[in-house]
Amino acid sequence: MTTGRLQDQIAIVTGGAGGIGAATCRQLAAAGAIVVVTDISDTAGEAVAAGIRAAGQRAIYQRLDVADEASWQALRTRVLAELGIPSVLVNNAGIDVVRNTFDTTPEQWDRIFAVNMKGMYLGVRALAKDMHETAVRDGRHASVVNMSSICGLIGVAFQTAYCASKGAVRLYTKALALEMSALGLKVRVNSIHPGTVDTAFAAQCLKELGEVGFAPSPAEARAAIARAHPIGHMAEPEEIADAIVFLASDESRFMTGSELVVDGGYTAQ
Ligand SMILES: NC(=O)c1ccc[n+]([C@@H]2O[C@H](COP(=O)([O-])OP(=O)(O)OC[C@H]3O[C@@H](n4cnc5c(N)ncnc54)[C@H](O)[C@@H]3O)[C@@H](O)[C@H]2O)c1
Repeated sequence: MTTGRLQDQIAIVTGGAGGIGAATCRQLAAAGAIVVVTDISDTAGEAVAAGIRAAGQRAIYQRLDVADEASWQALRTRVLAELGIPSVLVNNAGIDVVRNTFDTTPEQWDRIFAVNMKGMYLGVRALAKDMHETAVRDGRHASVVNMSSICGLIGVAFQTAYCASKGAVRLYTKALALEMSALGLKVRVNSIHPGTVDTAFAAQCLKELGEVGFAPSPAEARAAIARAHPIGHMAEPEEIADAIVFLASDESRFMTGSELVVDGGYTAQ
């Protein structure tokens, strides 16, 4: 019998019903993990978990609003009772606001930070000490993977709130990695920075960039974005999921506080 890179490890993925999240759930399961698909989109999340089970691998679905602390506690209670202690947390859930700064409302600003940034802190607060226990038991580090973006490295017009939240993810990750070490907790923490990935999220973003006049039409915005990636196209979700599985697994065991850029050369220019 072959064993995967994450054989029998319990892995939680937030935003697991979406494009990158679903691909990540599938690839973690293919690597042997027992996957906890979480999202606020229940039907789509259940379908991702069911698809994994239909492929002969292991997954459950649990509703989780990352911005809600009680939701994290409910997740923790169920996972500990039904599966055991997790060793991988992929903080992937995210939202965008495509507006100029004057049209971005304070409510939109607060919500994007609550989902894209505070949700990670709540997740780590709920689970990192448990994850340390599995790390000690297994003689390896547990792994937190925080979803940032190229928008956490460079600025993009009409996405100030998004860029600010993703930049915050980058430095939260580095500070947290140092803190885990300072506290003696065997938990690695890294951020991942994709270029544009061909998902519903990107399609909506491109549509809205067209609406605010950044590009003449969604189709032209799409073509321009593809050209802006030197590799010649947007990423497929699986191309990002592969990098997340790498960060989740022991193949990246000497990495913590790192930022993994997976952007088809976008930020090399
Ligand atoms: N698509 C891209 O071009 C791109 C590029 C770089 C980074 N990212 C980041 O990757 C992540 C996933 O993006 P995607 O393209 O798969 O988007 P997506 O919209 O397909 O998926 C995002 C998922 O997050 C879920 N979600 C939203 N709010 C939530 C909440 N409060 N609690 C729990 N789940 C919530 C949504 O229901 C959805 O299933 C996001 O953090 C995004 O910022 C995307």
